[in-house]
Amino acid sequence: MLELNRIHCGDNCDLLGKMPRECVDLVVTSPPYDDLRTYGGHSWDFFGVAWHLKRVLKPGGVIVWVVADATKDGSETGSSMEQALHFKRLGLNLHDTMVWAKPNPRPTQSTRYETAWEYVFVLAAGKPKTVNLLREPAVSAGGTRTKHRSTGGAAQDNEEGQYTYGDTKILRNVWEIGLGADGAGHPAAYPLDLVTRHIETWSLPGELVLDPFSGSGTTAKAAKTLGRQFIGLEVNPEYCAIAEQRLAQEVLALA
Ligand SMILES: C[S@@+](CC[C@H](N)C(=O)[O-])C[C@H]1O[C@@H](n2cnc3c(N)ncnc32)[C@H](O)[C@@H]1O
Repeated sequence: MLELNRIHCGDNCDLLGKMPRECVDLVVTSPPYDDLRTYGGHSWDFFGVAWHLKRVLKPGGVIVWVVADATKDGSETGSSMEQALHFKRLGLNLHDTMVWAKPNPRPTQSTRYETAWEYVFVLAAGKPKTVNLLREPAVSAGGTRTKHRSTGGAAQDNEEGQYTYGDTKILRNVWEIGLGADGAGHPAAYPLDLVTRHIETWSLPGELVLDPFSGSGTTAKAAKTLGRQFIGLEVNPEYCAIAEQRLAQEVLALA
C-alpha cells in the first residue's frame, strides 16, 4: 500500500498498481483534457487508470471526474462523455452529471459562445455509501422563503400542495465557482471550493480520498483541511513540489 497523507511522484498507473483493491472511499480528480496541455510532455493511459480506479474503490465509493473536451477540426472531441460511458461499462453508476460553471472563464477567440463550464461526472460503485447533500438558504426574490415544487404542474402557487416550504434547499447540480488563484503556479488547478464541497458530500472524516492527477495538490489540501486521509499521485516533479509546499502550510480551523 502507498503511504497515506502524502503526494507520490510518478506515473499514476504504476502507483495505482501498488494499492490494494477496495481501499479508497472517494476519488476527486481532473485528468488532462485531450491534448490541450501536456504538463511537461507526460502521457497517461485512460483505460488503465479507469480500470485501477474501479479496482481500488470501495463498494459505495464515489469518483468525481472533472473534465472537458478539446475542439479538433471544428468538432468537440466528445472524449469527456466517452470516458463517463467507459466507467459505466466497467460497472460504475453514472450517479450524476454535474456542471462546474465559471463566472470568470479564461477568454478565448472563437466562433462560438464563450465556454464557461466543465463536466463533473459523479460515478459510484453501486449506491453511494455517504451522501451529505449541501444546502443553501431558500430566499425568494419577493420574500424570505423559496417555494419548492414537490409535484408536477404549472409553476404557480395554489392550495393543492404543489409546493413545499422550507428555510433551506438542496443545492442544484450546477455549481458556479470562480477560478480564483488556487494552484500556486500550476497551469490548470481547479478551485479549492469545488473539491471541498465534493469531499463534504461524498465522504466522512477519517476516510481516504485519492487524486490520481494531483497537480498542485488541491484535492489533498481540501482533504487535509476536512480531516480526511489522502493520497495524491502526480507525474511531474515540479507540481509535486508545489503540492508539498501547499500541504506544508498550516491548516486553518474550520469555522
Ligand atoms: C488537470 S491537471 C490537475 C490539476 C489539479 N486538479 C490541481 O488542482 O492542481 C492534470 C495533472 O495530471 C498530471 N498527469 C499527467 N499524466 C500523468 C500520469 N501519467 N501520472 C500522474 N499524473 C499525470 C499532469 O502533470 C497534471 O498536473
